[in-house]
Amino acid sequence: MLYSLAPMEGITGHAFRRVHAECFGALDRYYTPFLPPPRVGSPFGGKNLKEIDPANNQGLNVVPQLLTKNADEFVWAAQLLADLGYTEVNLNLGCPSGTVVSKGKGSGFLRDPEALEAFLCDVCERSALPVSVKTRLGLEDDSEYGRILELYCSLPLAELIVHPRVQADRYQGKPRWEPYGKTLERAPFPVAYNGDIFGTGDMDALAEAHPRTRHVMLGRGLLANPALARMLAGGLAASADELRQFHDKLFHAYVDEIGGNAVFRMKEWWFYAKCAFADPMAVHRTVRKVRKINEYEVAVEKVFNTQSLAAIARFSG
Ligand SMILES: Cc1cc2nc3c(=O)[nH]c(=O)nc-3n(C[C@H](O)[C@H](O)[C@H](O)COP(=O)(O)O)c2cc1C
Repeated sequence: MLYSLAPMEGITGHAFRRVHAECFGALDRYYTPFLPPPRVGSPFGGKNLKEIDPANNQGLNVVPQLLTKNADEFVWAAQLLADLGYTEVNLNLGCPSGTVVSKGKGSGFLRDPEALEAFLCDVCERSALPVSVKTRLGLEDDSEYGRILELYCSLPLAELIVHPRVQADRYQGKPRWEPYGKTLERAPFPVAYNGDIFGTGDMDALAEAHPRTRHVMLGRGLLANPALARMLAGGLAASADELRQFHDKLFHAYVDEIGGNAVFRMKEWWFYAKCAFADPMAVHRTVRKVRKINEYEVAVEKVFNTQSLAAIARFSG
């Protein structure tokens, strides 16, 4: 089984990937959070350039993800990524955010299968890199997926990663496994599963229901339990020492990158990481109000000195 880390904007950036791999062993693949392609003729700049700078991704199998509906910009960005040494580019067709959807990007692109088909035919032909897609099933209803799957199946995609929810689901409700199963049956290219794999029981159930599953992308489950991929491969849960080390390295990496704003980045991580503790609400109360680095350090010291780990770390919202 292949395990990869989901793209999660603001969370699973290059510092997180590097520190995670260092502390818990590298996953098979890491997807960058979505990047807007630069204008044709311009390079990637600022934080997007840092995200894909090979120096920040050494030794990791990283797939950059683009969010766009402009084929020329996609093709241009794919060339820039190829020049940096990447071997695949991923298209985001899943983002459910209102502002993205209203511009016809992310899952909003699924509203217009004809335009999507024209876009994908064009970029598959012209892209310097093989194109994979991360998709939802549609906007409102999974009956939309028949047409969308049919169009994917007519294209030479490198891989299709299915998050089997519709846009209206956001991240609520159970992922719809039946359309994922249909994808496994129909697709002429490799398929990956993503959604609500938070523990070994979830993975066992998926493998039993869909034994042809070969690649699982982990998101919130791995943020709540950084040893999740190791456990899915039969290894040990994270010890308190490992979790502390992981925290400290991540915090210092963010301080190096963004100074005092590291506190806010870490608080996003704690939203998930609190689930590794027996009393997540107590952890939440301890870290939620801190703003300055010294206050943050005191709060973290308190968490690690007073809170015990959960019997099983599992994302619970
Ligand atoms: C805060 C946040 C940021 C996300 N950013 C992205 C993104 O940049 N690109 C993307 O394709 N999906 C993004 N996602 C969706 C995740 O990649 C993943 O599909 C989702 O969390 C479901 O998987 P999970 O149940 O394993 O967490 C994001 C999700 C969250 C909660």
